[in-house]
Amino acid sequence: MAQKIIAGNWKMNLDIDQSVKLIRELNTEKFDSDVRIILFPPSLFIDRISKVIESSIQLGVQNFSNNYNGAYTGEISINQVKSVGAKIGLIGHSERRSYYNEGDDILRYKVNQAVKHNFEFIFCCGEPLSVRESGDEFVFVKNQLQDSLFHLNVEQIQNSIIAYEPIWAIGTGKTASSSQAEEMHKNIRLWLKELYGPKVANSISILYGGSCNASNSKELLACPNVDGALVGGASLNADDFSKIVQSY
Ligand code: PGA
Repeated sequence: MAQKIIAGNWKMNLDIDQSVKLIRELNTEKFDSDVRIILFPPSLFIDRISKVIESSIQLGVQNFSNNYNGAYTGEISINQVKSVGAKIGLIGHSERRSYYNEGDDILRYKVNQAVKHNFEFIFCCGEPLSVRESGDEFVFVKNQLQDSLFHLNVEQIQNSIIAYEPIWAIGTGKTASSSQAEEMHKNIRLWLKELYGPKVANSISILYGGSCNASNSKELLACPNVDGALVGGASLNADDFSKIVQSY
């Protein structure tokens, strides 16, 4: 069985005081212990806010370098983020792919770094609107996975999580319908089965991301192949984020 996960990606929002306030608000909520909760705050705040968390919420990083250490100005390594308590990192978010030109090669290097240094990751994939409109979304997403993730062997892939985030649904308020989400997740599970066998495929969590909020989460999370959500905007509000976790 895949783990149930609700993850919150704060992106480049909130200052340190607002971040601490949000964590304190989340501290007052009751969460079901079978849902794993992960927050991705700005990396700069991980050390400070990890000391404020009073629950099992884990912290991860929105980005990390494809290099391990050395002269890479402005970069931050797995080693460094682990040393302040980050448990997991995002790879391949569409904003990094499009605004920072992170292509398949860099993403594959990041995947390899994560595997080599035993760092769990969420690999993001998803098609733009033009691809969805032309009906090529399955080919597109399969290519993204083949180019940067599916080179891993059966042992290596087990420390990963996949997030399907259609770009047209990210930050737009336009969510994929539960049948669109389920259809893609079912295909991803099928590709995993073909490559790694049913046991491994069924143990890898596949999250949905893209305008997931307190009103649509219940329906999305009820889909058999949706094992959780990667939430952007709605994770910036303790009440909304808690409702999403509690709707699971
Ligand atoms: P959104 O972002 O929930 O604001 O659409 C999701 C994401 O980018 O992970």
